[in-house]
Amino acid sequence: MDDSYGETGCVASELNVIPAPSRVELTGGSGPFSGNVRTDVDPSLGPEAYRLTVSADGAGIVGGDEAGVFWGRQTLRQMLGPEAFRRAPTAREPVTVPYVIVEDRPRFAWRGFMLDVARHFLPKDDVLRYVDLLAAHKLNVLHLHLTDDQGWRVEIRRHPRLTETGAWRRRTRLGWGTPPLWDERPHGGFYTQDDLREIVAYAAERHVTVVPEIDLPGHSQAAIAAYPELGNTDVVDTAALEVWTDWGITRNVLAPTDAVVRFYEDVLDEVLAVFPGRFVHIGGDECAKDQWRESPTAQARIRELGLENEDDLQSWMIRHFAHWLAARGRRLIGWDEILEGGLADGAAVMCWRWYAGGIAAAQAGHSVVMCPQQEVYLDHVQAHGPDEPVPFGWVHTLEDVYRFEPVPPRLAGTPYAANIIGAQANLWTEVAENRGRVDYQAFPRLVAFAEVAWSRLPGPDERDFGDFERRMNAAHYARLDALGVGYRPPTGPHPWQQRPGIPGRMHNKPRKTWRMAT
Ligand code: ACM
Repeated sequence: MDDSYGETGCVASELNVIPAPSRVELTGGSGPFSGNVRTDVDPSLGPEAYRLTVSADGAGIVGGDEAGVFWGRQTLRQMLGPEAFRRAPTAREPVTVPYVIVEDRPRFAWRGFMLDVARHFLPKDDVLRYVDLLAAHKLNVLHLHLTDDQGWRVEIRRHPRLTETGAWRRRTRLGWGTPPLWDERPHGGFYTQDDLREIVAYAAERHVTVVPEIDLPGHSQAAIAAYPELGNTDVVDTAALEVWTDWGITRNVLAPTDAVVRFYEDVLDEVLAVFPGRFVHIGGDECAKDQWRESPTAQARIRELGLENEDDLQSWMIRHFAHWLAARGRRLIGWDEILEGGLADGAAVMCWRWYAGGIAAAQAGHSVVMCPQQEVYLDHVQAHGPDEPVPFGWVHTLEDVYRFEPVPPRLAGTPYAANIIGAQANLWTEVAENRGRVDYQAFPRLVAFAEVAWSRLPGPDERDFGDFERRMNAAHYARLDALGVGYRPPTGPHPWQQRPGIPGRMHNKPRKTWRMAT
């Protein structure tokens, strides 16, 4: 690679670079992408691919489609230097870029980031900002976890109490200590349907698809607090339930009745009208079955449907929504628990528990997005050390994330590998209560993840993390500074990023590596 190009420290690109030892000033227009920057589309390049040429004439970006043009612009923006990441120009000197030909295309079609806006609400402006941050790193899916026990964040006009009641909780547990510590301030918020339409449209302009998640039948206590008839009223006084103030897995789950299914069809009808993307996420994770075991209504349902047990009852519910969505031209995606008891054809799986579910789903012909918590859960702590804020989970360093391999070795080289449609990094927000905490957890690790999801890197052991680190230090931290991202500095948290006194909870089981797990 040519030195002048190397200095630009591009990330999240698989660059086939033909250098020439000269530079050109990009000129004219109101921004960096007009004047002597030309764009074109040539479908023969393939989806999302691009060719970027910089020569004495200026820059040319040919995309396989409009998305490819857009990703090419992001690479050119990186070559323009950190100033190009500010909201208005500040450079006093003309900016020049080296002559190059870059040919680039993504490894995976789904390059995702999940933001949990249920545990802590993130205001709309912060979500829009995350769309910009994803786009700058060529990530193309924003998965919004919109509902959970601790909050319901999407306006549903037919069932207004979902947000009137379900969007607010009385107080919030601070971290994970015993005895519990509480922040006694009420917490909440929700997006109107127009807020979400705005986010969807803003994302579409940046070739990012927003995937909504309505989690069922577990992780639903906020909905039950709003509409007690959604819960298992024959085993618990659901009218006494509140939006949950604690963390973990609650026993309070949806009742497996036709009325509940109809209610969620109403919800999804409105969700489909707001989110035009193909995939709709219905959760399906961590559904405690205690109440179904105790509930005469649930047991009668199992008998009536000719099912074996409570796991099959969950499977019946998920299959119902898989068919319901398919009939409306959409595809269901859910956490890997939805495999238990069998899954409808066409449904896709998001694999978060090790790799086994993803391998089984891919072998059964389902599309799979790999996001194992052992590798790419960005709520997990990113370094050892006493100053890390609210340490949770396993330590996933920047290097660990850079060495994440989405295709398990058992599938590599088999036809099933093609069923791994992508990878995703997930950020749950029990201990990330605002934009600053989210930034700290996400960055810089999301940059490493973006490069893994886009590029064809060598296997984990052969990856040149030193080179990635060099590009981060030479250029990319300065871009994140220009963007105003509150990332974790390589030397550890700034004093204002620490959370002294708020206890975390580290996983005490050893973190298996993907090599052991596959
Ligand atoms: C999950 O982390 N419960 C999907």
